[in-house]
Amino acid sequence: MTGLEIKNLSVTVHEKKIIDHLSIKVPKGEIHAIMGPNGTGKSTLSYTIMGHPAYQPDEGDILLNDQRINDLPPDARSQAGLFLALQYPVAIPGVTVANFLRTALNTRRKKANPNDRGIPVPAFRKLLKEKMNLLKMDPAFAGRYLNDGFSGGEKKRTEVLQMAILEPEIAILDEIDSGLDIDALRVVAEGVNMLVEQNQMGVLIITHYQRLLDYIKPDAVHILMDGKIVRTGDFTLATELEERGYDWIRQEMAAA
Ligand SMILES: Nc1ncnc2c1ncn2[C@@H]1O[C@H](COP(=O)(O)OP(=O)(O)O)[C@@H](O)[C@H]1O
Ligand SMILES: [Mg+2]
Repeated sequence: MTGLEIKNLSVTVHEKKIIDHLSIKVPKGEIHAIMGPNGTGKSTLSYTIMGHPAYQPDEGDILLNDQRINDLPPDARSQAGLFLALQYPVAIPGVTVANFLRTALNTRRKKANPNDRGIPVPAFRKLLKEKMNLLKMDPAFAGRYLNDGFSGGEKKRTEVLQMAILEPEIAILDEIDSGLDIDALRVVAEGVNMLVEQNQMGVLIITHYQRLLDYIKPDAVHILMDGKIVRTGDFTLATELEERGYDWIRQEMAAA
């Protein structure tokens, strides 16, 4: 399958099983949403997929385009086409947005082709300007230090800018809506939708509000509870959750 496939994944953190035999497929060009209450393992899942050393699977397979990537370090996973937009992006004072993005792009190019000399500065400037335009970002932003003093919305826009420059095959978006006002949310969503349409990017979008899914329409919605996917449905499942909360699912599970 072209895309991301998680098979029977279990993850233990500090002797507690957080992800419990979870399976999910995110084909390229599709948008899959994971919703679930706080503390249910959503971020743990995204860290595990990216290869965070503190989140190693006990069992199960993580496949990207049919290749098992369990044993690859995070940078190799990124190289292979995965991208994780963080819930809490970190600030790097002293490194400008432009320099950070150019380094990220050149690192990727060099891994793909060791003889690559990097993107020439004028070409990079043009690319950056084009992508910032699409995301309605003030060009002055490129010269600011990465995430240093950025508002919540600016940080998320910068994550999406990075995604637009690196053009991943699969993006995992962990609560990118937290801290966004409605205008910023719309811009971020437009950026994601554009990458899905133009590049057939696959998206695993993690959120606990339905609101984001009004702007980024998922092909499927999965509910994560106690480390398991307990239900999968279409967009209407998100609306139902918004209206009824999660307790009814627990009750139905207990009754079954
Ligand atoms: N590094 C960690 N140390 C201790 N507990 C952790 C760590 N990471 C996750 N957990 C625990 O795993 C559970 C799931 O957390 P998380 O994946 O962040 O949930 P969610 O993103 O769904 O809110 C929580 O009980 C959390 O306390
Ligand atoms: Mg989380």
